[in-house]
Amino acid sequence: MHRTPRFIQKSVADASADLAAAKQALLRTPASASPKWFYDRLGSHLFEAITELPEYYPTRTEAAVFAAHGAQMARHVGVGATLIDLGAGNCVKATRLFPLLEPSQYVAVDISVDFLHDALRRVQREHPQLDVVGFGMDFSQSFDLPPALVEHRPVFFYPGSSIGNFTPAEALVFLKRVRAQAHGGGLLIGVDLVKPAPILEAAYDDALGVTAAFNLNLLRHLNHLLGSDFDPRQWRHIGLYNEVMSRVEMHLEARTALVVRWPGGERAFEAGERIHTENSCKYTVEGFASLLQQAGFSEPRHWTDERGWFAVFWASAD
Ligand code: AVI
Repeated sequence: MHRTPRFIQKSVADASADLAAAKQALLRTPASASPKWFYDRLGSHLFEAITELPEYYPTRTEAAVFAAHGAQMARHVGVGATLIDLGAGNCVKATRLFPLLEPSQYVAVDISVDFLHDALRRVQREHPQLDVVGFGMDFSQSFDLPPALVEHRPVFFYPGSSIGNFTPAEALVFLKRVRAQAHGGGLLIGVDLVKPAPILEAAYDDALGVTAAFNLNLLRHLNHLLGSDFDPRQWRHIGLYNEVMSRVEMHLEARTALVVRWPGGERAFEAGERIHTENSCKYTVEGFASLLQQAGFSEPRHWTDERGWFAVFWASAD
C-alpha cells in the first residue's frame, strides 16, 4: 500500500504582523528586506539554479564532503532516527543520506509550502514505506515542532550553510532552540568557511546573472505580498564580501531616484540608495565549533573538503 505524505501547516496568524514588519524594514534607513522573501515559487527555482552555477561552490562542495565522509558521519548519527530537514526545499540533500542514515521518519520543514508539496510527493513515491511528514513553518522566527515529531531521537539536518543567513547572535539563539528540541539526537549542519574575497564575491555575483535575478525577484514577491509597485528594472544587484563582519552581503541598489508606493505608504529612494536583502556569514571551524558548544551541544565533530572551503558538523544532544 502506498502512503501519502502528511502535511502540517503551522498557523499563519502572524502573517499580517510579518507584512507590517516588511513595510517597517523598507521605511528604515538603510532599508532592508528579510531574505525569507526570496523564496516564493520562482525564487525557490532560482535558488535551485544558483546551486548549479560554476561560481556557487557551496552546494557541490558540501555534497563532496558528504560523499567522502558520509559513512563516517552515519556512524556518529546512528540509524533509525527521525530526520528533521530544516529548509528542506527539494529534499534532495536529505534523501541522498537515506541509504546511510536509514531514518524511521522524515520530517521536511520549509517556509515555501507549495514547493514542499511537490518535493514530498516525489520523496514518498521513491520511499513508499517511509513515514513522511511535511511541516510548513517559518522557523527563522519561532521554532516549536509538535512534540510527537521530536519524541523519537530527533536528528536535525540543516545543510547548505543556511545558518550563515543569520547573524552570529541570531545563529546562537537558533542553535539553542534546536538543542532544546533535540533530546537524544543531535544536529548535522553544513557551514560555509571563510575564504578569499574574489571566490566569495563571484559566488554571489555570477556571470549569468542568476543570483541577480534571485535578488531582484524579491521585489516581485514584495509587490505580490504588499501591493507595492517596485519595478525590478530600476534596481541593480550587489553582492560584496564584508571582510570585517566575515559575511557576504547582498543589496539592491536604486539605479535612479525613485518612489515605491503601496496601499497606505510609500518610500522615496535616492539614486544609489540600497535595500539590504541578505547576509551570508562565513565561519572558521573553531568559531563554529565554539558556537555549537555555547548552544549546549557536546563534542562537535567536523569534516571538510580538501580545500577547506566547507565543513559539515555533527553535534550530539545526548
Ligand atoms: C540559502 N543560503 C544558504 C544561500 C547563501 O549562500 O547564503 C542563499 C543565497 N544567496 C545568494 N546565493 C545563494
